[in-house]
Amino acid sequence: MTARIRIALSKGRILEETLPLLKVAGIELLEEPSKSRKLIFPTSDPNVDIVIIRATDVPTFVEHGAADIGVAGKDVLMEHGARGVYEPLDLNISRCKLMVAAKKDVPEPEGRLRVATKFVNITKQYYAEKGEQVEIIKLYGSMELAPLVGLADKIVDIVDTGNTLRANGLEPTELIATISSRLIVNKASMKMKHNRIQALIDQLSTAVENNR
Ligand code: ATP
Ligand code: PRP
Repeated sequence: MTARIRIALSKGRILEETLPLLKVAGIELLEEPSKSRKLIFPTSDPNVDIVIIRATDVPTFVEHGAADIGVAGKDVLMEHGARGVYEPLDLNISRCKLMVAAKKDVPEPEGRLRVATKFVNITKQYYAEKGEQVEIIKLYGSMELAPLVGLADKIVDIVDTGNTLRANGLEPTELIATISSRLIVNKASMKMKHNRIQALIDQLSTAVENNR
């Protein structure tokens, strides 16, 4: 019997960049998700479907086995912890950097640094390793605004071209991690559906190599 596989992806760049890789593995969506309110999508492989969820929810779905496989940014995996999943393949897509940034030409503040970010756990760990006490201000987006309006001294955010920082008079100051999206696999699925999942990993791995 062929194993049924559920893949968790997020809307936007991860979906756009993962679909061409899945196509090489013979998996194609049958309808355009942006034109639908559906959340579960059948594919050209009758034994594979795709759920489309928030990027930060992908590790949770895969860890609990609600999806067998998922694609998530390394930033999301670091922030989540994601200890309950395997991470067998770097898909080399959605590449960017996780950085500390601050207003240009502004001296370090006296006293405790205020850092705004949606990556609270990563930021806590980063400053703990430096032995620096900081106040972390949790935001859900538009981190770049925080130093401009006096909410924080620094931010921890994703940087790609640097355009968003530049447009707001900020500059990157420290690199925390280089980021790309990873294939993650539920641990039980890896055992129970090993042949199907390993075949998919091998096909995706070839697709990634061909993309380089
Ligand atoms: P949500 O919309 O649920 O808040 P999100 O905004 O983080 O999530 P995306 O913007 O689609 O979702 O980003 C998905 C992943 O792509 C991120 O986790 C990160 O790894 C990577 N990423 C984010 N911004 C960029 C960028 N500007 N360039 C390249 N990769 C990026
Ligand atoms: C991400 C990130 C930065 C921006 C960096 O936002 O949060 O704001 O990209 O990219 P850049 O260095 O090329 O300017 P995104 O464009 O994904 O929008 P979002 O706020 O909806 O996540």
